[in-house]
Amino acid sequence: MLAIRASNAMLALPALVAAQSLTGIFTVTPEAIAVQNLTIIESEQVATSPFQVHSPDFTTLLGANPSLTVVFNATFPAFHEAGIVTSLDPLTFISSSNQFASPDATQATNNKTIVVSRTTFSNTTGQWSSDIIQSSTAPLVLANGGFQYQDGILFTAQGNLTSPSSAGLVYLPLTADQQPSVVINNFLGAPLNSPNDVYVSTDGVVYFTDPQIGFKQNIRPQPTLPDYVLGFAQGTTDVRVVADGIAYPNGLVLSPDEKTAYVTAAEAGLVPEGLSSSKSIYAFDIVSNGAGEVARFANKRVFAVPSSGIGDGIHCDETGNVWVGTGDGVSVYSPSGRLLGKILVEGGVANFGFASDGRLLVMAEKLLYLLQVDGAVQPAVKVGERRG
Ligand SMILES: *[C@@H]1O[C@H](CO)[C@@H](O)[C@H](O)[C@H]1NC(C)=O
Ligand SMILES: *[C@@H]1O[C@H](CO)[C@@H](O)[C@H](O)[C@H]1NC(C)=O
Ligand SMILES: *[C@@H]1O[C@H](CO)[C@@H](O)[C@H](O)[C@H]1NC(C)=O
Ligand SMILES: *[C@@H]1O[C@H](CO)[C@@H](O)[C@H](O)[C@H]1NC(C)=O
Ligand SMILES: *[C@@H]1O[C@H](CO)[C@@H](O)[C@H](O)[C@H]1NC(C)=O
Repeated sequence: MLAIRASNAMLALPALVAAQSLTGIFTVTPEAIAVQNLTIIESEQVATSPFQVHSPDFTTLLGANPSLTVVFNATFPAFHEAGIVTSLDPLTFISSSNQFASPDATQATNNKTIVVSRTTFSNTTGQWSSDIIQSSTAPLVLANGGFQYQDGILFTAQGNLTSPSSAGLVYLPLTADQQPSVVINNFLGAPLNSPNDVYVSTDGVVYFTDPQIGFKQNIRPQPTLPDYVLGFAQGTTDVRVVADGIAYPNGLVLSPDEKTAYVTAAEAGLVPEGLSSSKSIYAFDIVSNGAGEVARFANKRVFAVPSSGIGDGIHCDETGNVWVGTGDGVSVYSPSGRLLGKILVEGGVANFGFASDGRLLVMAEKLLYLLQVDGAVQPAVKVGERRG
């Protein structure tokens, strides 16, 4: 626990927050898609009208009064990954930061650190506040993605340069003692690359992506494994590769019926982010091998290609629509892969967390936004649902 407190009373004032809400909706026409330059249309709209409708189904998801409001402005990039709503009352949100320079860090982590923050909103006081609850100390070295698990969060630890076994999955209980513990740190004896995101199925099987990103970012040694998506049934010997051949597998989610897996790919900054780069979001059929056993990911196909940046954090709503953080905000796809619409956020969105009743906490590095869409929109993974 660090003694750093990063609160921002100014932005927590309800009047100021309300004044900053963006509410405009614009509808993309067939002509704009066919013959105009949507990039220019988007750049004109982003400052006032973040809600971009591609399909009438998106109007339903947005509801009558969608809004996008900055609720927290941090002094470091506190809002990058994980993005888990652990409680609704008070609204409690756990995020991992982006890598940032820190005097405490050493060359073992490229002089960068990552911290885990807890941001809360008390509707009795009307205040947002944020605290660092975990620094980058062993075994939670450079945390990234996370999933609500047992009494806390199962994080990916990207690891450091000096300890091959420092990369893995690490459980951080959010109980009083809060001691992180290693869940898995190798695949058949080979050190993991730099685990990025994790998802736990309803039967407790853990799926995670393990891209070679950490080596490229100079926080991990030369990889000994290819880019894999892995499955692990904790408490058993069942650990397997469920997908290979994806460059930099990143975000990972299962559909609410657990029949489809989605994996985002490619890492911002490593490849040009224009449309000439390969950055597909893939879908797979999940072939069950029985409850509690790692399933097979079969029938890989392209699900969608984000128009800006890469697909990163990915989550489903309870009806199976797929919400993805991208280079221009959040894109929402139908289960068939049709782009329904976007919520444009300046600077893009790595990840976000679903609360309930149409509320999402959208992460844009130093800024945290509250996104309100239709109150009927609910997350596929319920707040406080215990898995694992
Ligand atoms: C569309 O506009 C963007 C931004 O001005 C520009 O970079 C891009 O080259 C344009 N594309 C076409 C096909 O004109
Ligand atoms: C966040 O804080 C920075 C530094 O004080 C300021 O420059 C910026 O305008 C703020 N952003 C918002 C959206 O309030
Ligand atoms: C705070 O908001 C939550 C979520 O909307 C609600 O369940 C709870 O009753 C509210 N608590 C108070 C004290 O108003
Ligand atoms: C990184 O930190 C080390 C001390 O651990 C220091 O010697 C080195 O100069 C730093 N490198 C950079 C690029 O700041
Ligand atoms: C690297 O990771 C190992 C294992 O988690 C840890 O013991 C060690 O302190 C870390 N080294 C640095 C310099 O952060």
